[in-house]
Parts: sequence; structure tokens; C-alpha cells
Amino acid sequence: MENQTKDLTAIRREYCGVDFLSSELAVSPVQQFSKWFDQARQVRPDDVSSMTLATASATGMPSARIVLLKHYDERGFCWYTDYESNKGQDLAANPQAELMFYWNTLERQIRIQGTVHKLDEQSAQRYFSQRPRASQLSAAASFQSQPISSRTELQAVVTELETRSQGAQIKKPSRWGGYCLLPSRFEFWQGREGRLHDRLVYVLSGDQWHIQRLQP
Ligand SMILES: Cc1cc2nc3c(=O)[nH]c(=O)nc-3n(C[C@H](O)[C@H](O)[C@H](O)COP(=O)(O)O)c2cc1C
Repeated sequence: MENQTKDLTAIRREYCGVDFLSSELAVSPVQQFSKWFDQARQVRPDDVSSMTLATASATGMPSARIVLLKHYDERGFCWYTDYESNKGQDLAANPQAELMFYWNTLERQIRIQGTVHKLDEQSAQRYFSQRPRASQLSAAASFQSQPISSRTELQAVVTELETRSQGAQIKKPSRWGGYCLLPSRFEFWQGREGRLHDRLVYVLSGDQWHIQRLQP
């Protein structure tokens, strides 16, 4: 194949969000998150709760992937996954992580840094039992992030589980559960004209949130 650089420098758009002032911010960053989340949900309901989860391994190698936010409140932001997956191994070695939302229609990005802990077994069980049966079977069949020789083999494991269950409830594997990120820093980014974007940050100091504006 010809080794020709694909030049993307001409792909350019103007951001034109309205003024985003620190005086308009909610006192609590979780309330501010709720405000933006609800607005994003109105304009872009598909995948509004999808977020990039960035972790780092014991040796400092970063990894990022999308997961779905399933609940949040002042105590943290939660998602469900396989504890033995790559992200699970990263989090076991280094519980610090960042969550990132990007809602392009609103020209908004939110970054949330913090420490991550596992949710209790009851919460995992509760959410697992609400999931559609096909999702339960996938979670039970798949050892997430492990190699498998083919899709046929994966499908065979699912079929075998379904046959063995004889229509009974699918058991949640012990390796499947929830994580919760307890935030220590939030950044709310609003795209603005001429790349003079607004960046407002909440940093936790003791039990108080301090607000700062950062240069774009
Ligand atoms: C829209 C979307 C939603 C996803 N939601 C989840 C999720 O909630 N939990 C999860 O474990 N993986 C989810 N994934 C798959 C992950 O991005 C990733 O492939 C998987 O978790 C394995 O990541 P790891 O090998 O880094 O552990 C989602 C992917 C996409 C594109």
C-alpha cells in the first residue's frame, strides 16, 4: 500500500456555545453534571450515558474504553463490567481513573477524576437480574478481554449455558459486578468561538469543592 499521509488539517469546525460563567455553576459538581446530562439527554438521547473510562496499569500504561454509566449521586459514578477484564486488572493495581463524557451536539465535555472501588455484591446482583436474558448469558459466557479462537466457539458456550439453564434464571458470575468512581475533580468544558473555550474545574479540598477557570 502506498505510504501516503492522510491530511486531516482542513477538517475544521467552529464551536459557538454560549457564555459559560462560574457564577452559573451549581454549588455541587454532581448537580452541575445532572444539569448538563439532562440537557444532553434531550438533544442526543442515543448513548448519552456512554463515557470513556481511562485507567492505567501497574506499569503506568494507560487504556481507555467506553462503558455505560448506570447510576450516580454524590457518592459516585457507577458502571458494570468483568472484574477480571483488562480494566479490572488495571483498577486492582491502580484504583485511580478518569471518566469522560463528550456530547458533540452541545459542544461539551466533562472529565471526572477519582478513586474507584467495587460496588457490593447485592448491587451487582440487583442490576444483573434486571438485564435482558441475552445480556446475562453473554456476561456469563464471556471471560472479558481473554482471547477466543472464533465467534463460533463463543456462540457454542452461550448455547450450552442456555441449554443447561433449562429456562431457569442465569446465575451472575462472581467475576461480574460494579465499580464506583468517587470524584475528586470535575472539569466542565464548553466549546466557544475562535477556540477560546470555557473550562471550569471543581477540585475537592477536604470536604469543600473549589472552583477554578482554566485557560483553554
Ligand atoms: C457504547 C458502548 C458501551 C459499552 N458499555 C460497556 C459496559 O457498560 N461495560 C463493559 O464492561 N464494557 C462495555 N463496552 C465495551 C468496552 O468498551 C470494552 O470493549 C470492554 O469493556 C473491554 O475492555 P478492557 O479489555 O479494557 O477491560 C461498551 C462499548 C461501547 C462501544
